[in-house]
Parts: sequence; C-alpha cells; structure tokens
Amino acid sequence: MVLIPGLCKGLSPNCHLAWPAKACQNSAMTSEASTFRFHHPSRLRRSVLTVPAINDRALDKVAGLDCDAVIFDLEDSVAEDRKVDARHKLLEFLQNADLGHRECIIRINASDTPHFREDMRLVLQCLPDAVLLPKVEEPVTVQDVADLIGEQDAAEGLRIWAMIETPRGVLNAAAIASSGRTSDSRLDAFVVGLNDLRKATGIPAAPGRTYLVPYLMQVVLAARAYGLDVIDSVSNDFRDMEAFSDECAQGRAMGFDGKMLIHPAQIEPANRLFGPSDAAIAEARLLAAAFSDPAHAGLNVINIDGRMIERLHAEEAARLLAKVALISARKDKP
Ligand code: COA
Ligand code: MG
Repeated sequence: MVLIPGLCKGLSPNCHLAWPAKACQNSAMTSEASTFRFHHPSRLRRSVLTVPAINDRALDKVAGLDCDAVIFDLEDSVAEDRKVDARHKLLEFLQNADLGHRECIIRINASDTPHFREDMRLVLQCLPDAVLLPKVEEPVTVQDVADLIGEQDAAEGLRIWAMIETPRGVLNAAAIASSGRTSDSRLDAFVVGLNDLRKATGIPAAPGRTYLVPYLMQVVLAARAYGLDVIDSVSNDFRDMEAFSDECAQGRAMGFDGKMLIHPAQIEPANRLFGPSDAAIAEARLLAAAFSDPAHAGLNVINIDGRMIERLHAEEAARLLAKVALISARKDKP
C-alpha cells in the first residue's frame, strides 16, 4: 500500500490515503534492447491510439486492437460535466483490463483546471506506464508532476509524456525536453497536438502540412537532442486512408516514432508505415553482420559495396533490429 499525502480533495491537507499497489505497468520494455541515444530501451510506439475514457464501447474494444500504446483520455474528448463519470469508468476498466503488450497512458487535464488533482489521484491509483500532460509550455510543468509522483514510493516506473500543442510549447520544446536530463525526471516522450496548434496559429489543415512542418521539425529536434521519443499528431479524417497513409509516411520521414491515432482503422497503416520496412530490415542485418565479421574487428569504417558504413550505422541497425524482435515477439502473443 502507498501513502499519498495532500491529494485528498475536501479533506485535511495532511491526510493520507491508502492506495493499492500497482495495477498496470509497462510490459513493452526489454532489458536487452539497445539504449544508445535514448533514455530507454527500444520500444514500439508506432500506433498510439487515444480512447475517450467516457466511451464504454471504445474501451471494450481496446484489448483486441493491435496498437502499441493506448492513451485513455480524460481531457478534451470528455465533456466538462462528464469528467467524474469518466474517471470512475476508467478506474473500473483498468482494474479489470488486461492490456497485454500495449503501453498504457492516461491523459489528464492540465494543472490549472479543477480536474487535475482528482486526475492525478486516479493516475497514482492505476499506475499506468505514463501520464500524458496536455498543453505543456514550460519545463516546470513536467517537473511539478515528476515531484508529485516522486513523493509516492510505488510510482517508480511511472513515466511522463508531454503534449506540445501550443505556440509557446513549440518555442520552448528544447527547454522542456532538456528537463528530461535530470536524474529525477520521468519525461519519456513528446506528442504533438496539431488541432490545438492550428487553432492557436490560424494555420488551416491542408495536405502536406506545409506551414506546420517547421514547427513539427522543431519538436522532433528538441526530442532527439534529449533522448525522447516523439509521436506525430492525430489525423482527424479517419475514412480517407490514402491521405492518412501519406501523412504517416511524411511523419516517418520527419523522424517521428509513431502517430497518435483516433480510430481503430488507423492502426494497421500506422504500424506498417512507422514499422521497419523489409528493405530496412535486410539492410540492418547486412550491417550488423558486416560489423560482427572478425575481418572488420577494430574498424570503425568499412566499405560495403562501394558505400562507406560507419559503426554508428551499425548502432542504428541494432536499434532497428531490436524493434523487429519486439514486433515478432508480439506475433506469438495476444
Ligand atoms: N478506440 C477504440 N474503439 C473505437 C475508437 C477508439 N478511439 N473509435 C471508434 N471505435 C470503435 C467504435 O466504438 C465502433 O465500435 P462499435 O460499433 O462497437 O461502437 C467502431 O470502432 C467503429 O467506429 P465508427 O462508427 O467508425 O466511429 P464512431 O462514430 O463510433 O467514433 C469518433 C468516431 C471520432 C467519435 C471516435 O473514433 C473517437 O472518439 N476517437 C477518439 C477521439 C479522441 O480521443 N480525441 C481526443 C484526442 S485528439
Ligand atoms: Mg489538445
């Protein structure tokens, strides 16, 4: 049992609530996976499906869907007067659900809303893999939540994801990402939110996202500078699969690890287009084999068919192959 001081709304600030031990923790991590450049082992975050916590039918579908991660949303997809109901539904759901390989993330309401404390209570009770903070604009927002979590002994594995979805969030992305360097930081990933960003900037939705690309790239660069994963924004049109596939391919080319999804129909294309292609796998195997060839021992640069290959390429290949191993391990499990 875990003691949580000061989080009991309506009671003495010194009261302590007893919570059950962790209910849901990340099963997607592998200890043997490569950790270079990133804070964490290779993980699959190709398809990150968001599910309104208020929607029973959608919740019931989750355990049968082939997504890498699920964001249970308490924020924008839940009407103001249904927040309490949504928390109750989510608690009941997570207490009984088996999410298998899927990472479990809860998106809460921002700290300046009346829902934040109760949302955090729920997070600390359910202990998902991560809590997703909306509209992050300053490093202190992440740090405050990390401090709050750090006060709870049982929350060791609980990570923080941050939504970058406002002009100030984009401008401060590097500072926010750099807060992930401290030893007590739990920051693991950025998620871009283009609906809010479009609203704030006045940039209309358009194929190719031409005028948003500079902002997107700024967020990707900030994440990479500090070893975070970075997830591309949702696409609202879930019937136009051709446009969605184009956007996935674009996001992959920009360096995103995966995409936030709103509908089950988007899972398969996201898994395919953010996953390693057959050609990339073959190339990675070739590089890994070349560098493990005793003839190349001690060399940092080798020639493969007229191309200069450096050891850093072999490291990239190892990361890709770790993801391939995760994907194939998935195929044997529900
Ligand atoms: N997760 C799980 N299941 C979902 C789902 C989701 N995100 N979106 C739809 N489904 C289910 C539906 O429940 C439906 O199953 P059912 O017939 O058994 O109820 C099935 O997939 C087909 O859905 P469809 O009829 O095509 O769409 P819909 O009208 O039920 O839902 C949305 C459309 C947009 C309302 C819904 O997809 C949704 O709420 N998405 C998430 C929105 C969100 O989280 N926004 C906040 C972050 S941007
Ligand atoms: Mg938003």
